[in-house]
Formats: sequence, structure tokens, C-alpha cells
Amino acid sequence: MHIEIRRPDDWHLHLRDGAALAAVLPYTAARFARAIVMPNLKPPVTTTDAAARYRARILAALPAVGPFANFTPLMTLYLTDLTPPAEIDRARASGIVFACKLYPAGATTNADSGVTDIRRIDATLARMSELGLPLLVHGEVTGREVDVFDRESRFIDEVLAPTIARFPALRVVFEHITTARAVEFVRTARDGVGATITPQHLLHNRNALFDGGIRPHYYCLPILKTEPDRAALLEAATSGNPRFFLGTDSAPHAQHTKENACGCAGMFTAHAGIELYAEAFEAVGKLNRLEGFASDFGADFYGLPRNADRIRLEKREWRPPASYPLGEGERLVPMRAGEPVRWELAT
Ligand code: NCD
Ligand code: ZN
Repeated sequence: MHIEIRRPDDWHLHLRDGAALAAVLPYTAARFARAIVMPNLKPPVTTTDAAARYRARILAALPAVGPFANFTPLMTLYLTDLTPPAEIDRARASGIVFACKLYPAGATTNADSGVTDIRRIDATLARMSELGLPLLVHGEVTGREVDVFDRESRFIDEVLAPTIARFPALRVVFEHITTARAVEFVRTARDGVGATITPQHLLHNRNALFDGGIRPHYYCLPILKTEPDRAALLEAATSGNPRFFLGTDSAPHAQHTKENACGCAGMFTAHAGIELYAEAFEAVGKLNRLEGFASDFGADFYGLPRNADRIRLEKREWRPPASYPLGEGERLVPMRAGEPVRWELAT
């Protein structure tokens, strides 16, 4: 058995830099035509000039031949308290920056330079709204007193809903949503609000973190949630509602930084970045809805053309290895390491 779909895009991806970039990029480029590249490098990508240089490094890291050569990185800027509206003008004029990312300060990996209070960047958000540059949000509040499982819900009430109301024309992507509450919020929000969903949040609930012992390779942010949350996400992704689209949030970390007393947040999924979604959709008998979610709705949201070519997925089990190289002697442990993935990309 096989299916064919329009070639998909990844609307939320971490590519890193240097040797790690070169190591992980081919997995994405073999599957996806384009990806929205997250700017949380060290130091973060806060200017259009820095985004242009990062884009050049990504293109230089692409294998010159093979199925990878046509991959297009879509760059983003990392918003800080000090991002001036003039930077938004430069971003828009560049033709290479497609969105700006809001990391609440301290919310996740490399978010220390993020925004401390969204009202501080009102003038910048106003310019984004005017120029049609979407705001991508990591939707979690950060207060130490807030339960880690409640951070997304609290963000909706305290930050997202008021911001969407204050900027009625701002296009907003609620990134990697993880709760039934977020699904309901996006479904009923005004026009111009969308959301990405990761494969791990469609396939796993929070029990995966504690399956017979603590499982650092299932730790990502926002953290996996309950089974009813997972079911609501899967229902949304497979519903045909164009507000929900694919964003893997594939986030490579060296093995020893995850298998650690203070392990990093992030799961690597790019090696099976479309296959894992096929598995989730098949599990609820909705493979016919995969193409819209993976290949149509994100491009439509960003106002970009849908891809012209197609990919073929075969129903054939394969096992990702225990680890992949991450450059400079490092390794990373992919999702499903040593365990079966049920669909395979045909080459
Ligand atoms: C991401 C990373 O490692 O850059 N980690 C994660 O758990 N998703 C950052 C992010 O998207 O939150
Ligand atoms: Zn991310």
C-alpha cells in the first residue's frame, strides 16, 4: 500500500548552526520543500542581516545534488524587548524573512533574550500587522509558580487572547499547540489565527515521559499533555480545518545534553518528519486529510504557492537507528530510535 501527496512544508523547524546544521538539514530537505526556520541560535537571529547570513549558511550546507537541492529556508526574526519597528520594515523588504518569533523570556531552549512583557513591543507588533508579517508564538507563560502543565492555558488568557484583540489585523500562528484548550481557542478565534501541531503531540501523551522510568527523549516544550489533549489535537489535525497545519518542531540536541541530570527540551523528528504524521492520521482512518494539513494549509496561511511536485509514502516498517551523527563527534537520539516507524518515504 502507498499514498501520494503534494510535497509538504515544515512550518516550525530548528536547524541549529555549524556542524549540527550540516548533519540535520538533509533529513528535512529530503521530505519538505520549505521550512520556517526558528531563530533561537546562540546568539539569536534578531536582525534581517543576521537572518540573511544564517540563510546563506543553510544553503551552503545543503548537499548540491539529489532530492535536497531545491529546499528553501524561510527565515524568521527573534523578537526581543528592543526590536525596533524599523527592523520589521527591513525584514519585509528583504523578501527572505517570513515571520517573527515571540519567545517569552526564559520559556524554552535559548529563550533568555526573549520578550519580558509583550506590551513592550507594541510598536513592533503594530508594524508587523501593517506589513502583514505573521507573529509566531511560543505560547507558554514562565512564572515559577505556574504549573508546567498549565503554562499554555495561562498564556492564552494572559497574553494571546488580549494580543489578538489589541491587534485585530495581526496574523498569528500559535506554535506547537498541546492542549484541547488551545485547539478550541484557535478554532473559534478571529480570522488570521492558525496553529502548528507536532508529531509527538499527536502520537503521545505525558505518560511517554514516565514509561517504566524517566524518558528524557520525550521531553520537549511545551511538554506532552494528557490523553484527552492528544485526542483533541488529533481531531483538529485530521478535521480538514485549514487553521491547523504541520510544524514538526524538530529540535536536535546532543545525546549527552538530554541524558543528563538537567536534560534539554526538544525532540528530533526530522528523520521521519512526514512519516510520523502519516502514522497518526492512519490510526484514526484519516489519511485522506494528510495532504491538506501537511502540504496545503500552511502555504495558504503564509500566502505562498503550494508546491507543485509530489512525494510517495509506502506502508512499510523501518527502524531509525539508536542515534545519528550530529557533527563534531556528537550524536543525537531520534524519535522512535530502534523502534518501528510504519510509513517510509519512497526515494
Ligand atoms: C526547542 C529547541 O530545542 O530549540 N525545544 C523544544 O522543546 N521544542 C525550542 C522550542 O521550540 O521550544
Ligand atoms: Zn520550536
